[in-house]
Parts: sequence; C-alpha cells; structure tokens
Amino acid sequence: MSYSFSVNGQEVDIESPGLRPLLSVLRDDLGLLGAKLGCGEGRCGACTVLVDDAPVAACLYPVANADGSDVRTVEGLARHDSELTAVQDALLTHGGVQCGACIPGVVMTLTALLDQDARPEDSEVRSALAGNICRCTGYQKIVDAAMAATE
Ligand code: FES
Repeated sequence: MSYSFSVNGQEVDIESPGLRPLLSVLRDDLGLLGAKLGCGEGRCGACTVLVDDAPVAACLYPVANADGSDVRTVEGLARHDSELTAVQDALLTHGGVQCGACIPGVVMTLTALLDQDARPEDSEVRSALAGNICRCTGYQKIVDAAMAATE
C-alpha cells in the first residue's frame, strides 16, 4: 500500500504494509534516527513522535494511521545550525540529559505539552511524562527543565 504524509514539514510517499510501525519507516526508510527503539512494546517512550501534534509510541503506531497526517520528530526541532527550542535548551542547562536515550522522546512529549499549555502545573508535566522512562532515573531534573521551559 502507498501512504502519504508530512514529516517535519516535508511530504513523503511510502510504499509499505499498513501495519508496519511508523518508527521503522522513520528510521529505516527516511533515515531519521532520533526516535529510538527501546522496548518495542509501547512502554518506554523512547520512540515518541508527534502525529498531528499528539505524542504517539511510533513503535506500535501503524504507518497506515499516519496517512494524511503531520508527523514531527526531534529532527524537526532545532538543527545543528539553528537555536535550540526552549525545551531542548532547558534540558541541557538544567542537567536533564544523562545518557540521552530517552531524551528525543522526552523532548517530543514536552513539546506537545507546551504547545497545548504554555504554563502547565508540575503535576501536569509529571503526568505527561508518565510514558517516558528514563533509565538513568533523572526525572526530577527533567521536570525542573520542563518547568524552566515554561518561564
Ligand atoms: Fe516504543 Fe518503547 S520503543 S514505547
């Protein structure tokens, strides 16, 4: 089957079985390696990307569901030659990045949250991040960074 959608503002046409995970298309077909394959079961959040501004676990998200949608990955935020987004900058300056495995997913989850609500409560940040597992357990600094990004 053929599917068309935008990825970070660029239209793409993909030939693929419809049930193939979006993560596989992004990484293997499009070379976008920011979203990570962690658990592969929708539990860790390492693969989080945005589909029509909502965070999804791309490891479980069928590419057919992305047809006609606007997909955003961490590569669609700051590039090496542009300024970091507020979320990215805050994660760096507040020590929210340790091994980095979870960070692309965390960045996308927080980007979606702050796009919806520029001033979330601490509890809303923690709730939004419930699906993003940090294997370094650096949650407090990630939350601190998120709150700083709202200022
Ligand atoms: Fe998708 Fe863990 S790799 S949630």
